[in-house]
Amino acid sequence: MKLLITGGLGYIGSHVVLQAQRAGHEVVVVDDLSTGLTSRVDCQVVDVDLASEKALDVLHNLMNEHHFEAVIHLAARKQVGQSVEQPERYFKDNIGGLANLLLAMKEAGIKKLVFSSSAATYGIPEVELVPEDYPGIPINPYGQTKLIGEWMVSNASIWGLKGLNLRYFNVAGCEIPALADTAELNLIPIAIAAIKRGQSPKVFGVDYPTIDGSCVRDYVHVGDLANAHLLAVAYLEQSRQEHATFNVGTGIGASVLEVLAEIRVASGLDFELDMHPRRPGDPPKLIADTSRIENILSFKARHDLKEIVKSAWDASS
Ligand SMILES: NC(=O)c1ccc[n+]([C@@H]2O[C@H](COP(=O)([O-])OP(=O)(O)OC[C@H]3O[C@@H](n4cnc5c(N)ncnc54)[C@H](O)[C@@H]3O)[C@@H](O)[C@H]2O)c1
Repeated sequence: MKLLITGGLGYIGSHVVLQAQRAGHEVVVVDDLSTGLTSRVDCQVVDVDLASEKALDVLHNLMNEHHFEAVIHLAARKQVGQSVEQPERYFKDNIGGLANLLLAMKEAGIKKLVFSSSAATYGIPEVELVPEDYPGIPINPYGQTKLIGEWMVSNASIWGLKGLNLRYFNVAGCEIPALADTAELNLIPIAIAAIKRGQSPKVFGVDYPTIDGSCVRDYVHVGDLANAHLLAVAYLEQSRQEHATFNVGTGIGASVLEVLAEIRVASGLDFELDMHPRRPGDPPKLIADTSRIENILSFKARHDLKEIVKSAWDASS
């Protein structure tokens, strides 16, 4: 199949590109190189900001040149704190970029789309395992752009689009070191970078109602997540369903202190922790109910936390 992958130079996108190519798909990437690295992929890369004025023309020409059967849309700004400080930029880039993509797909008659969404759409859920139908409300502009993006994808069924939203939980690890997460935005890369600098990793809050008082998250290996995209594309190919949303996680929670303990094991280093009070807006627990993706896409994460942490540590060495 010929696939257009937006954001394919990024941490997750490059894993999707790699797995798609290994599965025999032909891939073209669109990316503005804002956080992406060309060294991560071996395919045609078209450098354009999807939210820019010229994006529609560029996409139009690209889609005429290649007859893509499906699009996987990962390109987005993803820093929660930055989205609070610059909400307009997040709406312009994430929503505007998706709007341009949908307009171009409609014109070119491309009717299959997998959209990168996020567990940030749930806000602060008050359930042990979050199902896709949980009536969550995102608590920051980043999460809002993802929920609005999902609505845009579902509304496009009016012109025949079949769209799947994948709500990623906490993505970490890497398949090969060249594709490692270089941004220090999530717990595992932040903690590893601090340890490498000889600093103590920070822990925000140990008084939550969780197993050890620290926040609990669902860590999914980026290779498993990439595989979910290929399952999603295959499903779009054979299913009649127009629109669906899937959590992508493991269904298993790990606390901040448990993750840091795994980093001790992977690194062979003992380090102190730098304890801080809770941060506002951190849900105590965020764990996926994975029954829908397991039942419908036959997705099952194969890597556990140990493998996630080890791959991240080894890539940083
Ligand atoms: N990393 C996570 O834990 C996580 C969790 C949930 C959802 N997501 C979503 O997954 C997707 C990929 O995230 P990532 O972690 O790989 O981030 P990343 O920053 O590594 O990758 C994003 C890629 O998109 C490109 N890009 C960004 N805005 C663009 C634009 N307007 N036009 C063209 N290219 C653009 C960047 O250059 C980069 O290559 C994003 O949509 C993000 O919101 C990530």
